[in-house]
Amino acid sequence: MELYFGLAKELLAKGLAEETQSYDENNTYDTAIHFTADLDFYLGLAKRQKGPILDIGCGTGRVLLPLLRAGHRVVGMDLSPHMLDLARQKARRAGFTPELYRGDMRDFSLEEEFSLILIPYFAMIYMTTDEERSRVIEGCRRHLAPGGMLAFDFDAGRGEPGLGKPWLGFQTVEADGVVVQTVQINQLTQDLRVVNIVTYRFRGPHSRIEVSASVEASISASRLAKLLEAGGFTVQGLYRDYTYAPYSGGEECVVVALKS
Ligand SMILES: C[S@@+](CC[C@H](N)C(=O)[O-])C[C@H]1O[C@@H](n2cnc3c(N)ncnc32)[C@H](O)[C@@H]1O
Repeated sequence: MELYFGLAKELLAKGLAEETQSYDENNTYDTAIHFTADLDFYLGLAKRQKGPILDIGCGTGRVLLPLLRAGHRVVGMDLSPHMLDLARQKARRAGFTPELYRGDMRDFSLEEEFSLILIPYFAMIYMTTDEERSRVIEGCRRHLAPGGMLAFDFDAGRGEPGLGKPWLGFQTVEADGVVVQTVQINQLTQDLRVVNIVTYRFRGPHSRIEVSASVEASISASRLAKLLEAGGFTVQGLYRDYTYAPYSGGEECVVVALKS
């Protein structure tokens, strides 16, 4: 699969940009993402479930920190050591020292059972086959106590194959310069796409351009529900957002499932 297309491909070919990884040490996640709409939802589930929580793909702690602040015991896991470092620093500044593990959601083993497992902010889009999704589901089931709950959001949409127009991810002024990020999607099939991110860092003589690519997938809500049921879960609800409004089609879907 070709990971680069359009401008990013041209920049790399001409030696004008450096290739980076999406969640590496220079990632711009906390600059780009200011999403809060899901926090009350996950805090509500945590209150209901009582007991330890596992935040899979916890990133820089966007959900983990509010859960800690609310007094819950939360363990974080992420594939990226850099995202975990940022989460650790942020937690420390807030007075917490949570257990944070580097792990792959497709194959993880922690010596604890949880009452609630979360996979917030569409981290499941990186699972591009049913086999990978089933491995995640199996791992979650193994790490849930009886009556345990699994909740996450995922992309349930179907894209129109073709190259999309680039859009502005963010533009920001930092202490030592300006950072601008653009995003472009190459939709390969209705449920598989490659995302190219181009980051321009203007810092006087140290200006540079970085490009990164990621492969993302969507899955229909009904197929995901079948995978969960086959993996030993009872789907409690499929919602269109974080307010428990029933899912009725569209890109965003939130699922809550109980260990059967
Ligand atoms: C969109 S971010 C979401 C971060 C965080 N959950 C939030 O709500 O802000 C996706 C996160 O999933 C992590 N991730 C991607 N693939 C993973 C995998 N196979 N196992 C564990 N984490 C993974 C990335 O490193 C990244 O931190």
